[in-house]
Amino acid sequence: MTFDMTRFTDAIAGCRRLLVLTGAGIYAESGVPTFRGPEGLWRKHDPVQLATPEAFHADPRLVWEWYAWRRSVIAGCEPNPAHHALVTLEGMVPEFLLATQNVDGLHRRAGSRNLAEIHGNIWNVRRLDGEGPEVEDLRAEIPDGELPLRDEAGNLLRPGVVWYGEMLREEALMRLQQFLAHQPDVVIVIGTSAQVTWVPAILAHARSMGATIININPDRAGLETIAHHHIDRASGDFFGEWLQNLNNE
Ligand code: OAD
Repeated sequence: MTFDMTRFTDAIAGCRRLLVLTGAGIYAESGVPTFRGPEGLWRKHDPVQLATPEAFHADPRLVWEWYAWRRSVIAGCEPNPAHHALVTLEGMVPEFLLATQNVDGLHRRAGSRNLAEIHGNIWNVRRLDGEGPEVEDLRAEIPDGELPLRDEAGNLLRPGVVWYGEMLREEALMRLQQFLAHQPDVVIVIGTSAQVTWVPAILAHARSMGATIININPDRAGLETIAHHHIDRASGDFFGEWLQNLNNE
């Protein structure tokens, strides 16, 4: 039996502790290119090569140009029905956490509150040498002449995101682990290829503690064996229908 809208709605109705985990696929319908898809390429560079400390040290300007481009693309995009549905879901269940791999800030813009940004946020910057706090920099357009970004004292700044080979955001990860320790009964995973290792690890852990895992992704590869149920649809399309059903009740 396919896992349809009715079964999804039933699963949510009985849920007390809901964990949602999102990846790049949730923003595809907002017009933001996904990380690994062909449209994720920028000037023929592979994002996986650019999002590294080595790439930044070799050419900070090039990496900043990429982040500046990503910011300008994201600034022109809006949260889609999947982002909005997660805000609605947060209000429907007693306990809720949204853990995201995405750095775009669209969950915040949509209004999600219990949010753990495990890979950081593209709208933050901090000093490369690790000194000082991370601060917001919400400029959607950064003039080329200002790149790579520096603070007033001339210290090189870096985007407030996690690069390959770096530690995940500790505070966000702790919130996720604490939430997990109290046994979520349902986990909804949306739009991830689950290639970043903590994602399948968290899902396997949740499953071993009895959580029901629901995967929403038009391509279930990567989560075939971890998820109990698959909704093989684009998440904005699925949640658009779910929200409409809710409004008609
Ligand atoms: P990927 O780009 O690897 O995978 C995107 C997933 O979204 C794929 O499984 C697609 O099938 C799915 N997808 C595409 N359109 C969709 C839609 N409309 N609705 C639902 N799903 C859709 O992105 P992630 O798994 O999130 O980390 O991996 C991105 C992470 O990889 C980044 O955070 C980055 C990188 O490693 C770091 O830089 C540390």
